[in-house]
Amino acid sequence: MESMGDLVRTHKCNDLRQTDSGDQVTLMGWVLRRRDHGGVIFIDLRDRWGITQVVFNPEHNAEVHAKAHGLRSEWVLAIRGRVHNRPDGMINDKLATGSIEVMVDELRILNTSKTPPFPLDEETEVSDNLRLQYRYLDMRRPGMADNFIMRHKAAQAIRTFLNDENFLEIETPMLTRSTPEGARDYLVPSRVNAGKFYALPQSPQLFKQLLMVAGMDRYYQITKCFRDEDLRADRQPEFTHVDMELSFVNEEEIYHIGEEMMATLFRATHGLEIKTPFPRMSYDEAVHRFGTDRPDIRFGLELTDLTDIVKDASFKVFRQVVEKGGVVKAINAKGCATFSRKDLDDLTDFAGNYGAKGLAWVKVKADGEWQSPIAKFFKDEECAAMTAALQAEEGDLLLFQADNPAIVHQVLAEIRLELARRLALLDKNEFSFLWITDFPLVEYDQELKRHTSVHHPFTMPREEDIPLLDTEPAKVKSRAYDMVLNGTEIGGGSLRIHQKELQDKVFATLGIDEKEANDKFSFLLKALELGAPPHGGMAFGFDRLMMILLGRDTIRDVIAFPKTQKATCPLTEAPAPVARKQLTELYLRPDWEDKK
Ligand code: AMO
Ligand code: AMP
Repeated sequence: MESMGDLVRTHKCNDLRQTDSGDQVTLMGWVLRRRDHGGVIFIDLRDRWGITQVVFNPEHNAEVHAKAHGLRSEWVLAIRGRVHNRPDGMINDKLATGSIEVMVDELRILNTSKTPPFPLDEETEVSDNLRLQYRYLDMRRPGMADNFIMRHKAAQAIRTFLNDENFLEIETPMLTRSTPEGARDYLVPSRVNAGKFYALPQSPQLFKQLLMVAGMDRYYQITKCFRDEDLRADRQPEFTHVDMELSFVNEEEIYHIGEEMMATLFRATHGLEIKTPFPRMSYDEAVHRFGTDRPDIRFGLELTDLTDIVKDASFKVFRQVVEKGGVVKAINAKGCATFSRKDLDDLTDFAGNYGAKGLAWVKVKADGEWQSPIAKFFKDEECAAMTAALQAEEGDLLLFQADNPAIVHQVLAEIRLELARRLALLDKNEFSFLWITDFPLVEYDQELKRHTSVHHPFTMPREEDIPLLDTEPAKVKSRAYDMVLNGTEIGGGSLRIHQKELQDKVFATLGIDEKEANDKFSFLLKALELGAPPHGGMAFGFDRLMMILLGRDTIRDVIAFPKTQKATCPLTEAPAPVARKQLTELYLRPDWEDKK
């Protein structure tokens, strides 16, 4: 092995063009590919910036050529040589440096490499576990490297935008108290305070509110949040917020900042002009039309409520659901009457995963005639009314769901997405933004037998709804909002309560008594009584945003060192056992060891 010695890198692997022809250059990087062409050896040398072909010609320099014979994939090299134009016919249009090559005069082998556990091209399918175990190799792959280059650009664009808008970047603690986001906390025991614990923040929520009380007026931070919850493709136990809070603002100003930030981001990363302002939809409308509060509006396939039409029908399944206060809704899958029996069975199984007890279907034939196992249960006028409500035509497939509203909405929202996937309606190059507004402030939790916050307990109720807090809390709307992009919630926020009396009232609605409120949040409540200004803000899920921006299917692809579904890290093998002594120092009794 050799050292870099006196060699100084003059160019990166994506720099050289025909205008550099004749220059002496020094490149450093990894062996991507080696080709032996009857005596002449070609190496594609790779670094973060790109690829340059370097040539070892025995007639040019026999010694260096002989040395190049031993080179293997992923060895680390420094080469010095002269830039040549490639002969006509040898030009590679796919490569930015494809019209030149470097004829090598000096080769230094800076490091060797064992054969990598998987090929570092983009095409080879590699198991997720292996990719995470060797993440540093996975990140050498061209597509992956681009994700992190883009993520960096996006973060810079966001910072520049917010700096220009007079925001201050202020850090908040990682060792803190439980925050009110509602997931389970990651706890950290305190060695110097026996039996006491810090919680890693689920978000900087309370600190950013305190920064407003501190008069900072506009705060932002690109920071980690920690939530111990079940993981999905767009959920990680630690993830990144673009977090912000503003004083003396209303919703409109926050929407404007959010929209302009997205516009800046898409310009910086994709050179794309997105349309602002974004459309808005109330929570009720979103759930009614799409079955979810994060609808993907790139395509139609909306839900139609048929409850009134079928309430007296002879089809027992539907009638009984309606009698019990449930609903019947359907989707018109346009042109899908061609689905086979197996397609329908698969779709029924799929619906079952989301709690469906069945999935009634109708194929619409010529003259609007229904082909369906349930057709016989409906009178002609009932069929006609449903056909009209669903705007059904020959060739359409109608899919029905009857149950309580929560199940019907969940099932049909998922069916809608599944149909869009099957019909290839999801264009990754289309970016459909949407604000969801007018969320309920609270929802009733059957298990806890009390109301809980839909957003968090510091969310401001709509002013005109405040009297309803005492009488019909479920009807109170909040001043909260979410930003949705292509069916993913990429951000959310609210105006906050800044007056102690209203905060107490909302706590009372949530069944949080004074003692509990003081135990958990007394520091915030105190601050509310010391000149808290009106304020509000929001937080964007930076990983989710990057996932969509880069057309990826999981946020793992845009996080350098993510965790698996089981919240483990195959690279470091965290979480890992610790020595008994460490536990006792932290006043933890390792009794699960005794139970083994
Ligand atoms: P919220 O909990 O809605 O709001 O979080 C804001 C955004 O963060 C993203 N997000 C996640 N991304 C990846 N993995 C996760 N486990 C995860 N959980 C959430 C989502 C979400 O929209 N303090 C409030 C914001 C505020 O009111 O200002 C908050 O944390 O994209
Ligand atoms: P059954 O009479 O239970 O055999 O159901 C007749 C049809 O209705 C079948 O296609 C079932 O898949 C469907 N079905 C059953 N329960 C429901 C439901 N809750 N919602 C929608 N369709 C259902």
